[in-house]
Amino acid sequence: MTDKFFKIMGLIGFTTFNTINLQAAEEVVTEKSFWASMSIEEQLTLIVGLTALIVILAALWTLDKSVKVVARELRKDYFKAQGFDLEAMEAEDAKKKAAQPSFWERLNNQLTDAVPISQEEKILSLHSYDGIRELDNKLPPWWVGLFYGTIVFAVVYISHYHVLGTGALQQEEFQISMAKAAEEKKAYLAKVANLVDENNVTLLTDKSTLSKGETIYTANCVACHGVYGEGGVGPNFADQYWIHGGDIKDIFKTIKYGVPAQGMIAWQAQLKPAEMQAVASYIYQFEGTNPPNPKAPQGEIFIREGGESVPDSTNVEAVDSTLQTRLMDN
Ligand code: HEC
Repeated sequence: MTDKFFKIMGLIGFTTFNTINLQAAEEVVTEKSFWASMSIEEQLTLIVGLTALIVILAALWTLDKSVKVVARELRKDYFKAQGFDLEAMEAEDAKKKAAQPSFWERLNNQLTDAVPISQEEKILSLHSYDGIRELDNKLPPWWVGLFYGTIVFAVVYISHYHVLGTGALQQEEFQISMAKAAEEKKAYLAKVANLVDENNVTLLTDKSTLSKGETIYTANCVACHGVYGEGGVGPNFADQYWIHGGDIKDIFKTIKYGVPAQGMIAWQAQLKPAEMQAVASYIYQFEGTNPPNPKAPQGEIFIREGGESVPDSTNVEAVDSTLQTRLMDN
């Protein structure tokens, strides 16, 4: 017993010490190792301390062993004086112990409840088919247990899912996980959306983005650029002329960094990247429309990718404006 105790303590001590050493090793990158960080005196103290500890443990172990040996001898003498032979008694005990079935044997007997082979005659059935006869063993308890277990399980299962309705059925489970996935997707997209910058920004034309863009535009930009993008203090967005470029990336960049010297604020502190993308996409749509009281074109004509004429032929006003621009060009 004492041996085991010391072994375990030794192991714990060893592991702890090693862990400290490992931690120290990891810290080497930034700091000196555990050992190197100590002064010579501290190192010596540690060595002497550890040695002393080992010596004490060894002494205790030896003491324990010797006490046991002496105690045994004393006990032997005592039993002899009483008229007993201790060694014979111990041998008897060991024999009894060996004769008893082991834990596994007992477990096996309990689980199978089979009649021992020596007594099988008792349960041999009388009929015989071509000389083959059967044993009428009891059903093994492990099997019976499983059988009743399935019944209990079925009752619990049916009441949980079909009677009480407390559990989600497949269909519902599917919907729950789909809803969860949709939420995760939304969160992910929102995160990704805010990663846009002037190098990777794209034009978004879906309704929800444009209406988001419109809200932002109405709240922040109308005062200088006009409700219809016709311009005011700031330039007109409806013509093909741009001071800082009419591409979606250019527009995003102008919004983000602004042109402070000319009175256009840098919006990056107030709008999230996704919001700047939305409002840039919204502004992008103005080109080719024909708003009332347009401000005169400023900057240079900017031909967007995909040709000279942006508007589709169904937009009469837009076609009109392109014509106007062409006329102004000539
Ligand atoms: C205080 C007035 C003011 C507000 C508010 C304002 N702008 Fe401007 N904006 C300007 C001015 C002035 C310019 C022209 C800068 C120049 O001359 O370089 C400009 C230029 C721009 C341009 C570049 C136009 C081009 O021809 O290249 C874009 C795009 C733009 N603004 C978008 C926005 C957006 C989006 C908002 C709202 C979030 C906004 N602005 C709010 C004054 C404003």
